[in-house]
Amino acid sequence: MIRSHDIIPPPHPLIRRVTLADIPTIVAIENEAFADPWDNAIFTEALSYYPTTYFVAVSGGNIAGFVVGAIEDTGENIYGHICNFAVHPQYRKQKIGSALLNRLEQQFMIESATGSQLEVRESNLAAQQFYRCRGYQNVFQVGGYYANGEDALVMMKWFRF
Ligand SMILES: CC(C)(COP(=O)(O)OP(=O)(O)OC[C@H]1O[C@@H](n2cnc3c(N)ncnc32)[C@H](O)[C@@H]1OP(=O)(O)O)[C@@H](O)C(=O)NCCC(=O)NCCS
Repeated sequence: MIRSHDIIPPPHPLIRRVTLADIPTIVAIENEAFADPWDNAIFTEALSYYPTTYFVAVSGGNIAGFVVGAIEDTGENIYGHICNFAVHPQYRKQKIGSALLNRLEQQFMIESATGSQLEVRESNLAAQQFYRCRGYQNVFQVGGYYANGEDALVMMKWFRF
């Protein structure tokens, strides 16, 4: 007989800032997720530019996913930019992506951003669905944004204070 206390939900991931030692694992997750992955040098450089908006999720002691964000100041507006974001396939659909996104959006708000923006491949319907369910709207398309000529969809969420 299964009692309610026998059903153990997956543990909440720990979300913490990235250190240099995390980068090889981040690169491995990136290579699983994308056809045109960033390399070790780009992830390392991002750590020097964006140390406060760069997070990993740790589940069961393992790095399960990461997100790289940046604050962009246009002079008229400050907004957060989601530059790179992936969860290892084995850990998807366990709310790890949601936990990373929540922490990043919180940091964007702390750093005075009025919204959060990202580019996603037109063909990446799963990610578009993920963002839409979390308050993002389509704003425009950028033709030929990716190396293979695919268009990007720009999605944005405005924060309400
Ligand atoms: C997008 C991504 C980061 C989401 O991470 P995750 O840990 O699976 O996300 P969560 O478990 O928090 O949320 C899953 C949600 O995403 C959506 N989703 C995920 N995979 C989906 C799929 N194959 N089809 C449709 N919706 C999907 C659903 O809305 C789901 O919400 P629900 O659980 O409320 O139904 C992950 O799928 C990923 O790494 N994808 C490959 C890399 C990528 O596309 N990155 C974004 C580039 S812009």
